[in-house]
Amino acid sequence: HRHLLSIGQLETHEILYLLDEAEQWVALNRQSSKHSDALSGLTIINAFFENSTRTLLSFEIAGKRLGADVVNMHAAQSSVKKGETLIDTAVTLNSMRADAIVIRHQSSGAVALIAGKVDCPVLNAGDGQHEHPTQALLDALALRNKLREQGRESLNGLKVTICGDVLHSRVARSNILCLQALGAVVRVCAPPALMPAGIEAMGAEPFHDFEAALAGTDVVMMLRLQSERMEGQFIPSPREYRHLYGLTLPRLRRCAPDAIVMHPGPMNRGVEIDSDVAELAGQSIITDQVEMGVAIRMACLDVLTRRARGLEGWA
Ligand code: CP
Repeated sequence: HRHLLSIGQLETHEILYLLDEAEQWVALNRQSSKHSDALSGLTIINAFFENSTRTLLSFEIAGKRLGADVVNMHAAQSSVKKGETLIDTAVTLNSMRADAIVIRHQSSGAVALIAGKVDCPVLNAGDGQHEHPTQALLDALALRNKLREQGRESLNGLKVTICGDVLHSRVARSNILCLQALGAVVRVCAPPALMPAGIEAMGAEPFHDFEAALAGTDVVMMLRLQSERMEGQFIPSPREYRHLYGLTLPRLRRCAPDAIVMHPGPMNRGVEIDSDVAELAGQSIITDQVEMGVAIRMACLDVLTRRARGLEGWA
């Protein structure tokens, strides 16, 4: 089976294919009746070992709108709490004959480990600090739509600044890969302690000075401080952090005119982003990102299950 474990595994034409496929689901999702029978009879298991609002609900809604039977496993209410291993949990889900398994896990590489143990496509809904591929795809779709509104056909040459806790961010990693594949030039900005060593090797230009990173950028993508991954490390105070790295209206003016504001959520308002920026009409596409999340996940579930449904699909 073909899995969706990372953006790194996708060719550029495959990224574009998933974005194009999602368009039909954006259209369906905007109708009053949002139902398709494309995945009728299939069972999808969402196994979430970490908290989620957007990713879990949008995968659940995506599966249901495609006509599949969708069940959710929350680790906190599961036998993981009784000491069951990750592999035993994976084998258990597999024995229930799931047709696709969507997994979020706190450890980088855990989703790939499960993919090697089951007989169906596995979709990575975020693994530790590694990747969050459907987030990068939905971000690319939301961005492409906004750029089209501005009369720009592609992301080619677009300047994007990703700012925040880059060190712990799977969203940053997936987005650097996806945006670059689509032709964008990516800057990353973080305090020295939250910048991964060797980020230049990914082709992103690192900055510690937020104002310098914002100068002339077309898109600014803000990230939350992931304090849940900072045990034992120094965590800046929210006040201190906002002072140096918070996206305020005056700072936004350093970007290109009409710069696009993005945030994967969940936001910590008044820390990495001010409310008036997050809600800035015409420039913030944060709610569009969430809307595109459902359509992208419909496209991924559809494409990855095609072979099992006897259709031409990704090998
Ligand atoms: N953006 C994102 O992954 O949000 P959730 O953690 O709420 O799923």
